[in-house]
Amino acid sequence: MTIGVLTSGGDAPGMNAAIRAIVRAGLSQGWRVVGIERGYAGLLSGDTREMTSKSVSEVIQRGGTILYTARSEELMTLGGQARAAANCREMGLDALVVIGGDGSYRGACALADLGIPVIGVPGTIDLDIACTDYTIGFDTAINTAMEAIDKIRDTSSSHERCSIVEVMGRSAGYIALCCGISTGAEDILLPERWKEEDIQDLIRSVIEGRKAGKKHHLIINAEGVGHSEELAERIEAATGVESRATILGYLQRGGSPTCRDRIMATRMGVKAVELIAAGKLNRVVAYRRDGLVDYEIHEALAMQKDITDTWLAMLPMLKR
Ligand code: F6P
Repeated sequence: MTIGVLTSGGDAPGMNAAIRAIVRAGLSQGWRVVGIERGYAGLLSGDTREMTSKSVSEVIQRGGTILYTARSEELMTLGGQARAAANCREMGLDALVVIGGDGSYRGACALADLGIPVIGVPGTIDLDIACTDYTIGFDTAINTAMEAIDKIRDTSSSHERCSIVEVMGRSAGYIALCCGISTGAEDILLPERWKEEDIQDLIRSVIEGRKAGKKHHLIINAEGVGHSEELAERIEAATGVESRATILGYLQRGGSPTCRDRIMATRMGVKAVELIAAGKLNRVVAYRRDGLVDYEIHEALAMQKDITDTWLAMLPMLKR
């Protein structure tokens, strides 16, 4: 039995812990494990390496991905998918484990449709995969962002400024929501809820904060809302409060994974191998309140999720 493993899409802290778990659990089954470099791009170009227990030594604490990652345009095409499937067969892969976000899952679905058995493991800082309550990298990213925002808050208070801090998350607001709550931000802008006219509420909020004697005003803005510089300019023009925008950017994707990410990645990696061993293929590993579960990959991709209303309901109380 031979399995392949690749990481695809944006890297996420904890991907190495997942690779390590898949390699070691796979080897424990007596299987051969092949590492595919640069995601689907490496599958197309045949860039592989033999994975041994030693090849995943000293990686559990490392951010990034030792297998490298990429976003492959070619895998979006039917020709690319057919070539990738043919390469999997040539490599003798009995199953392919894909660690990545839902873009990576779409590639895995296409391979499954071409007869390649796949397993998805959720790895993205964005937490935007509908079928799961947890994705590898989220905890590290929000902790990294939270620490950076605390620092911005210090200088914002000293200068009595309004700070808009933009965090990643693609079109989802989970990073913004968690960072906003954990840093005590005055306002949190979420792509799931934001409307252009909400700028007036934001301006009102800054003015009311000043009247209430607040020395700073912290706004956490999600990448999916964007326009942070423009928002800062408009707030300053309307309120007279000096305003600055900071885009946190890629620092949120790096760094040593937190304990939670290492453990979740390890559990999810082992679960992926258990699914293959049980002959449960074309599935994705997911986390629900009661623990690890798995779903058929097409079914998983068709699911949708939204920010929890109970979380949003508490925000006005925290602002007072
Ligand atoms: O999906 C992870 C993520 O960091 C998103 O938050 C962001 O929108 C995107 O990747 C950036 O991607 P790239 O590395 O291609 O610039």
